[in-house]
Amino acid sequence: MKLPKNLRSGFMREDVENYLYELLPARDKVVSEMEEYAAQHNVPIIGPAVARLLALLVQISGAQRIFELGSAIGYSTVWLARAAGPQAEITYTDSDPQNAKRASAYFKRAGVAKRIRVETGDALTLLKKSTGKFDVIFNDIYKREYPAAARVALPRLRRGGLFITDNTLWSGKAARKAAAGDSDTRGVQELNRIVHSSKDLFSVLIPLRDGVTVCRKL
Ligand SMILES: C[S@@+](CC[C@H](N)C(=O)[O-])C[C@H]1O[C@@H](n2cnc3c(N)ncnc32)[C@H](O)[C@@H]1O
Repeated sequence: MKLPKNLRSGFMREDVENYLYELLPARDKVVSEMEEYAAQHNVPIIGPAVARLLALLVQISGAQRIFELGSAIGYSTVWLARAAGPQAEITYTDSDPQNAKRASAYFKRAGVAKRIRVETGDALTLLKKSTGKFDVIFNDIYKREYPAAARVALPRLRRGGLFITDNTLWSGKAARKAAAGDSDTRGVQELNRIVHSSKDLFSVLIPLRDGVTVCRKL
């Protein structure tokens, strides 16, 4: 199996990573097409392994109000929306209107458009402007913005809600001293530090693909 570059973890043994992906059930036509588009255009989507983890967390928690920070072509959004069901409200955000246009077309074809609000602009500004509390906030924006994302997102989660962040091992760089000027690695490290030292959260870093940090607000 040839795993596309955009899904490789950068630290997991290739045979183990291939094994993990070979186990996954086939996806439907729309989701497979999104995966192909992402592989061809090097769009950094979460991929099917992390997507299944997100879907599982949404199903177990019964999440209905979900806010996504950094949605690109809407791959993770489709998985969140399908897992949450027809009554759910999912907010898609991305700074690139072209991404939003492509994502909206996929949402129609995936049969989830009615449950997704598509917003373009700075994701953290959009979250600040939104109202009410969320059951799940999924964070996948630029890594240098991760500490700001934690500061903005955590007060907006309901008690028992989940703050989930992708790429928290950052190709393994999170485990090593960041090079001078590497604000992305520093951002990831700072987020991991914040959420693991908070008394208001129960946090776990799952070393799946590029690392996923899952935090439950106590
Ligand atoms: C890693 S991709 C998201 C992938 C998506 N979560 C998925 O798995 O399908 C990150 C996206 O976030 C967007 N982005 C990064 N920082 C942002 C910000 N502060 N506000 C809005 N969008 C942002 C980028 O344009 C990019 O499309």
